[in-house]
Amino acid sequence: MTLPLAVCVSGRGSNLGAIIDAIAAGRLDARITLVVSSRAGAPALERASRASVPTAVHAVTNATRADAQRAMARAIVASGARLVVLAGYDRILTDGFWDELGAIPVINIHPSLLPAFGGLNGMRVHEAVLRSGARESGATVHRAQPGPVDDGEILVQRRVAVLPGDDAEALAARVLAEEHLALVEAVGRLARQAAV
Ligand code: GAR
Repeated sequence: MTLPLAVCVSGRGSNLGAIIDAIAAGRLDARITLVVSSRAGAPALERASRASVPTAVHAVTNATRADAQRAMARAIVASGARLVVLAGYDRILTDGFWDELGAIPVINIHPSLLPAFGGLNGMRVHEAVLRSGARESGATVHRAQPGPVDDGEILVQRRVAVLPGDDAEALAARVLAEEHLALVEAVGRLARQAAV
């Protein structure tokens, strides 16, 4: 069965693009029912539209986060998704989101080898890795659930060496290439499990 999934984004959308490309190339038996963004004008929305994927914006400010995320979860359920992928979604999910979503599983991509460097976003993760003197970093896809962020069963990890002379941008670029592979691998695995 082709797995229907929704993708939550906030920015660039390169991980979304990796899923779109893998589906188009026949490497992933999935279908994107909806791309939801926490920000109007996120480049990820444009990436989705180019692939004729439906999009919605549920803009999140601190005052409206609970309402926006409830509406977002309702839209995801209505789209028929059987999996939710957090691909650079930059807000903590509130209880209402999980209540509305029910039993639909959620996975998240994070740019470090969790549990190391959890609780941070984007470039801050790579800056923290470099400050720590760690010799390696990487990408993690894990199940997401109510409670602590960047927690939950690890599905796929891909490792990256931290090289002498790396700055955050250089490390981020090398990790991002592995994120794309890790995410497609994890979604593919869940799609095969859903098919049996
Ligand atoms: C990715 O590097 C993703 O791992 C990170 O945001 C970036 C989104 O890029 N997510 C987190 O840091 C979550 N804590 P993208 O929009 O190009 O996919």
